[in-house]
Amino acid sequence: MTMQANQPIGIFDSGVGGLTVAHALHSLLPHDDVLYLGDSARLPYGTKCPASVEGYARHAVGWLIERGIKLLVVACNTASALALDDLCVQLAPIPVIGVVEPGARAAVEASVNGRHLVLATESTVRVQAYTAAIQQLDAAAQVEELACSVFVALAEEGWGDTSVARETAGRYLRFLKLMPPAERPDCAILGCTHFPLLRSAIGDALGADITIVDSATTTATAVQSALKGLSLLAPESGHGDLRLSATDGADRFARIGSAFLGKKFSPADIELTDIHPADAPVP
Ligand code: DGL
Repeated sequence: MTMQANQPIGIFDSGVGGLTVAHALHSLLPHDDVLYLGDSARLPYGTKCPASVEGYARHAVGWLIERGIKLLVVACNTASALALDDLCVQLAPIPVIGVVEPGARAAVEASVNGRHLVLATESTVRVQAYTAAIQQLDAAAQVEELACSVFVALAEEGWGDTSVARETAGRYLRFLKLMPPAERPDCAILGCTHFPLLRSAIGDALGADITIVDSATTTATAVQSALKGLSLLAPESGHGDLRLSATDGADRFARIGSAFLGKKFSPADIELTDIHPADAPVP
């Protein structure tokens, strides 16, 4: 299989969260076409077991491969943590970029004291993917991972910047107030693509001495250098379309997704698709 520069970049997440990464990608690579798939029918991924997430990811990616992508971005931390190796095998030679390694890189660059707090879904935390990725870059780093599953529901409800979000963040993060200053992390990673929508609520609960990082920009930069290395960047004459698809609920996807993408779109802009016919074998 040969990839061509004029093929789209494929990107997927369990829902609208990965649109934060799509936004960063589209801004950095304005000439590249981007095809986004939100597997909203199976959301949330973050509370599911590894076998389910691997199966969902394989189906989502099978759908994108059929549309001829030149590179895959797994814009879901849970799928990156649980299924990235599997997807690399399924897609070879198409390059695959997850969000965990770029997020870990951003954290290591931002931290001065080498103490990190990772906020993520239950499934991401269970496999400690961020701890491994951060310690790969800084073997002495101290990493604490905290499951904050309710943040996903708040973001999906459009309640990221409400008193409920502030109260929830305060509750998850109140242990920080009891920590001796020398043990406090100086960096918090939003290890779920839904969490940037709660950035202000999370920031208030963390306090001003903790820097928040997420993987959207660093993932876009990783995609840019991978495409450049393979001479697969779209030519400057490229129009740079962003096409949106979802497996359920175009109205909801548009209503909530616009905030993630930073740009209004309507249900008519979304292709509703079924990536998982009941009798289809996993590709
Ligand atoms: N956005 C997904 C992630 O980055 C999680 C949301 C979900 O639970 O499906 O992990």
